[in-house]
Amino acid sequence: MKKLLHIIATPRGDESRTLKVTRAFLDSFQSTHEGWVVEELNLFKEELPSLTVKRVDGKYILLGGKDLFGEAKDAWEEIIAEIDRFMSADAYLVSTPMWNFNIPYTLKHYIDIIVQPKYLFRYTAEGVEGLVKGKKMVVIASRGGEYSTEELRPFDFQEPYLRTIFGFVGLTDITFVVAQPMDAGGPDVQKQNIEEAQKRAREVAEGFN
Ligand SMILES: Cc1cc2nc3c(=O)[nH]c(=O)nc-3n(C[C@H](O)[C@H](O)[C@H](O)COP(=O)(O)O)c2cc1C
Repeated sequence: MKKLLHIIATPRGDESRTLKVTRAFLDSFQSTHEGWVVEELNLFKEELPSLTVKRVDGKYILLGGKDLFGEAKDAWEEIIAEIDRFMSADAYLVSTPMWNFNIPYTLKHYIDIIVQPKYLFRYTAEGVEGLVKGKKMVVIASRGGEYSTEELRPFDFQEPYLRTIFGFVGLTDITFVVAQPMDAGGPDVQKQNIEEAQKRAREVAEGFN
C-alpha cells in the first residue's frame, strides 16, 4: 500500500472552498489509484508541539552536526513523531487557503516542526541536500482575490513560499490547483471558479503517478 498524506490547513470544514476542490481531487484519485491509502492530517484539529526553548535548542544541536542528547532529546519526541509521519508518506496533498498573502499559521507551524536538519535536509560540502527524494506533492489552494495578473502576482507569497520550502527539502515536483477569486468576484464567479478548479483537480488526480 502507498500512502498519500493529506495535510489540511483550513478550519472551515464543509464550508471550505479549498476542500470542495480537494474532494473532487480525492474522488478521482481514489477511483483511479487502487493500492493507495489517504491519511488525513488536519492542522486545525491536531495539536502540534510548540517550539519551546528546549526544542529549539535541539535544532541547534543538530545544526552543529551532533545527535540529540539530554533534555533536548526528550523534548523532541513529538517532533520526531511528526517527522516520521511526514516521511512515511509516498506523496502529499496540501489543502490551503491564502491567508494574508501567504499560508495559514497552522501550516507554517507544521513546516517549522518538520523541516529539520538530519531528517529533512542536511548540509554537505556541495551545499544543502534535501532528503525528501522521489516524492510528489499536489497543493490545492483557494484565494479571496485573483493573483494571476502581472500586477498582482507579486502579492502571492503562498505558491512561491511552498515551492521554496518544500523544494529546499527535495520536494521539487509540486503541482498547484488554484481556485481564485473566491470572494472578490461575487457568488457566480466563485461557483464558476470552483468548478473550473474541480475539473483541473480531477485531471491532476487521474494523471498522478
Ligand atoms: C484570516 C484570513 C486571511 C485572508 N487573507 C487573504 C489574502 O491575503 N488574500 C486573499 O486573496 N484572500 C484572503 N482570505 C480569503 C480566503 O483566502 C478565501 O476566502 C479562501 O477561499 C478561503 O478558503 P477556505 O474556504 O477553504 O477556508 C483570507 C481569509 C482569512 C480567513
